[in-house]
Amino acid sequence: MFFQRFKKPRLQKFFQSAFAATLLLMAGLTSLAQEPVSKEQIDDKLAEVVKLGEAIVENTTTHPMSKEYVGNALNCTSCHLDNGRHEKAGTFLGTATAYPAWSPRENRVITLEDRVLNCFMRSCNGTRPPLGSEVSVAVTTYVTSLSQGQSLRMNSKRPVGPGAIKLLAVKPDQADINRGASLYHSRCAECHQKDGQGDKDNPPVWGERSYNDGAGLSSVENLAAWLKVAMPLDDTNLTDQQALDIAVFVNSQKRPNFDLLKHLPTKAKLGEYNASPTK
Ligand code: HEC
Ligand code: HEC
Repeated sequence: MFFQRFKKPRLQKFFQSAFAATLLLMAGLTSLAQEPVSKEQIDDKLAEVVKLGEAIVENTTTHPMSKEYVGNALNCTSCHLDNGRHEKAGTFLGTATAYPAWSPRENRVITLEDRVLNCFMRSCNGTRPPLGSEVSVAVTTYVTSLSQGQSLRMNSKRPVGPGAIKLLAVKPDQADINRGASLYHSRCAECHQKDGQGDKDNPPVWGERSYNDGAGLSSVENLAAWLKVAMPLDDTNLTDQQALDIAVFVNSQKRPNFDLLKHLPTKAKLGEYNASPTK
């Protein structure tokens, strides 16, 4: 016990009573400070956090709450188009209904919050924010708000929602990388540039500022399926074969290597007590 560390009984007593006095004082202050909270205030609080979460999803690389956890030039919305409101490209609509879920990659049952935090480490090549931190709670709350009213179905196969992207019928061994390269230059380079580094309006698709090789899109099958529903932005008309060819080309380019231990925070910051206690 904490108090037993003080060997001398008098010293022990002194600390015990100082501790009790502090507790009493804190309880007193709290009862003065706390008015009953009305239903409207609770609704307002929740709406505020939903809004904060959406702002983080949109401006992940620059938002003061999230930027320290991002290690590349991508915002969540770079892949979860329209802040996850797009019906196909990485949709968050209905996503929260699919958790908790079994994750073969993590070899664990994971929660929606875990799923959100893992995207920071992998897709955003950054550091996993602490569980229970404000940024984590805000983003998870926003994603959850997009499943309002839908019924929950836990998921025993893999951690994706009902609107998850369907894999294409063509398989990576049918890809032609040379065809992919010329398609990239005719269909993608106008925005993402010949060197894949993008510009101020378009994110990089390979290189140090791109997603790492532990991200979902670093799998050719996933990237092909995502391109088919997402790119070229505003003109999504690639055939399955074209999407696959381009995916093989894009993922053959250099990108950061994912080394899990470099993306976890220090042990002390792995989790946070999700509270600002008043008593
Ligand atoms: C480089 C692209 C990319 C970026 C950036 C990215 N993600 Fe993802 N994320 C994906 C892909 C791909 C999937 C799998 C989606 C699917 O299969 O429909 C995914 C899945 C998810 C899921 C699970 C969706 C489901 O249907 O179960 C959540 C939640 C998620 N991401 C949150 C985030 C958050 C939050 C951020 C920003 C911190 C982020 N992602 C950044 C590519 C990305
Ligand atoms: C008209 C411009 C435009 C064209 C053409 C275009 N993209 Fe994009 N792409 C974007 C924008 C903008 C985003 C980020 C979306 C957002 O933030 O809303 C993006 C996102 C991406 C992403 C996910 C984020 C990242 O940078 O890794 C990939 C991968 C991607 N595009 C690949 C391609 C490929 C491959 C093609 C060609 C088939 C293509 N794009 C064509 C504008 C474009």
